[in-house]
Amino acid sequence: MSDEEDISGPPPSARGRRQSVCAEPFNPNAVEDEDTPKVVNPKTDEQRTRLQNALKRLFLFKRLDMEQTSEVMDAMFERKVTAEEKVIEQGDDGDNFYVIDGGKFDIFVNEKNVGSYNEEGSFGELALMYNTPRAASIVATTDATIWGLDRATFRRIMLVAAFKKRKMYEEFLETVPIFSSLERYERMTLADGLYSEKFSDGATIITQGEEADKFYLVERGEVSIKMQKDDDVKEVAHLQKGGYFGELALVTKKERAASAYAVGDVTLACLDVGAFERLLGPCMDIMKRNFTNYEEQLVKIFGTSLNLTDVRT
Ligand code: CMP
Ligand code: CMP
Repeated sequence: MSDEEDISGPPPSARGRRQSVCAEPFNPNAVEDEDTPKVVNPKTDEQRTRLQNALKRLFLFKRLDMEQTSEVMDAMFERKVTAEEKVIEQGDDGDNFYVIDGGKFDIFVNEKNVGSYNEEGSFGELALMYNTPRAASIVATTDATIWGLDRATFRRIMLVAAFKKRKMYEEFLETVPIFSSLERYERMTLADGLYSEKFSDGATIITQGEEADKFYLVERGEVSIKMQKDDDVKEVAHLQKGGYFGELALVTKKERAASAYAVGDVTLACLDVGAFERLLGPCMDIMKRNFTNYEEQLVKIFGTSLNLTDVRT
């Protein structure tokens, strides 16, 4: 996707709903709220260290340069929350974006509990990104500490980075069969963690026997999976757009079971192991079920069982 692509408009789930009174169209190429004064909330060294640690884990912050990061850190403010406090009410206009320092929270959409946050993560970006009412309620289930970022600073500094990534991968992720069980919001947060890598024809993407550190989705092109057994090397799978690989070693915590090679020019969407474990929980059962297919495949190809896994729980 080019940087100039129009990425305006609310997400499909918010379309057709009541727009907040302050709905403004979003033009990512215009510098937004340029004239808003810089916000500075002074912090102690101890607070800065805590804030830095909370931000380090968030994908939305990884794309900011040093100056942007420091401006965001200056603007953030600490907020103590008590158990059962509602931090965000679904339907309200968006004021702040929040990053969790510590504590647990439940997420409710139309009064139904759809998930939770456990000691880390962020929330409250949707209403600020799309100028829509809050899409969910967030309720603390323990005493907690969060860091707030005001709407103007969020839009001025973080909006473009946040939009680009989600928009770039959103359509692609909708076409990936393994993710059809994910909710739309889960696909968005998955997009935050993805990054693309390119390989030219014949390049080795992963090598059988090596340690595993990431998971791959085929965005463009084709990938040949080949396995060596004794002196025999055979193609065990041939993947196209929407296919995935590299999950087996991450799940079994074993070495790579096969090698992967680019067929023609290939673009892959990658997810590091930590994000894989955190974000793909809902797909894990489907992936694990597929391990049986791998084993059956190998029996057909090599005429013997290879016992790839002992993790089917
Ligand atoms: P926002 O709409 O600004 O306020 C509520 C927040 O809840 C939302 O941004 C997201 O950050 C977060 N959230 C977590 N899970 C969901 C979900 N399934 N749907 C919508 N929002 C969610
Ligand atoms: P991993 O072991 O991490 O790296 C090699 C990948 O090849 C593996 O994960 C699977 O994603 C993929 N693969 C495709 N077909 C097979 C198969 N029949 N046996 C093992 N791995 C396979």
